[in-house]
Amino acid sequence: MGYKTIKELLDATKGVGVIGAFNIHNIEFIKGVVKAAEEENRPVIMMINEAVLMYGGIEILGGAAIAAAKQSKVDMAVMVDHGINIDFLKRCIDFGLDVMYDGSLLEFEENIKNTKEMADYAHARGRALEGEIGALGLSEDGDEEHEQRTTSVKEAVAFSEKTGVDILAVSVGNVHGFYKGKPHINVQRIKEISEAVPQLPVVMHGGSDIPYETIKASIEAGIRKFNIATDLKQAYAEKMRELLIQEPMPIQPLQLFPVVADAVTVVARKKIKMFDLVGDTK
Ligand code: 13P
Repeated sequence: MGYKTIKELLDATKGVGVIGAFNIHNIEFIKGVVKAAEEENRPVIMMINEAVLMYGGIEILGGAAIAAAKQSKVDMAVMVDHGINIDFLKRCIDFGLDVMYDGSLLEFEENIKNTKEMADYAHARGRALEGEIGALGLSEDGDEEHEQRTTSVKEAVAFSEKTGVDILAVSVGNVHGFYKGKPHINVQRIKEISEAVPQLPVVMHGGSDIPYETIKASIEAGIRKFNIATDLKQAYAEKMRELLIQEPMPIQPLQLFPVVADAVTVVARKKIKMFDLVGDTK
């Protein structure tokens, strides 16, 4: 058990299930996610948003996540999520992290060129790369809104052939953050893409706030990696608020940190259990 690449984890669970990928932002998120994975005895991927990693530091926050993965009782991978800065991402790969290069807002050919450069760089160093084709409506941190562009099967095939990516993120009605109303996920398109690029695990970004029936249908259509950030952030912030409005306000870090880490664990466990109901990754 221990630290793996995202490709190793996905190859090991091919045909038997989906892997939960959870965004972590600090030690409490790391502890919360690791505990959930160990309690459910399931492999998971920890993801660190590029801006969060720039703030936390590759060696400090990235190093903490890798150390936690190495010590964990289950297989784990750690990756940069939605990276756009090529030089920074190369430093992350040099340090031992996997990477998602997100060129989804670029012109098709430029996305292909950059993604191929990153895939070649990662593979030469024993790491794996996720790429994205099609565009989600909202950035992962909720800061930027973009025009949503659904991934076509043709694009997915060309992108896969020309870049050599290991894992493919698609836009099929999924959005980051909370959905306005019911999510409308194009399950048929997931199926068509998964069948057209059978060698490539397909990723669902924007995995929070999706009802079980849609999660199930998406996984059955071919989703192999399910990304969750917002639901964990919400649980963490709500628990922190609950603690901080107490009188007197608790100021000892150890009165706060383990409690919010446990709030992360509760939600991550719930998600892993949901994924297991669809496909068994044991
Ligand atoms: P949510 O915040 O909607 O769960 O999305 C997570 C994600 O896709 C991270 O890349």
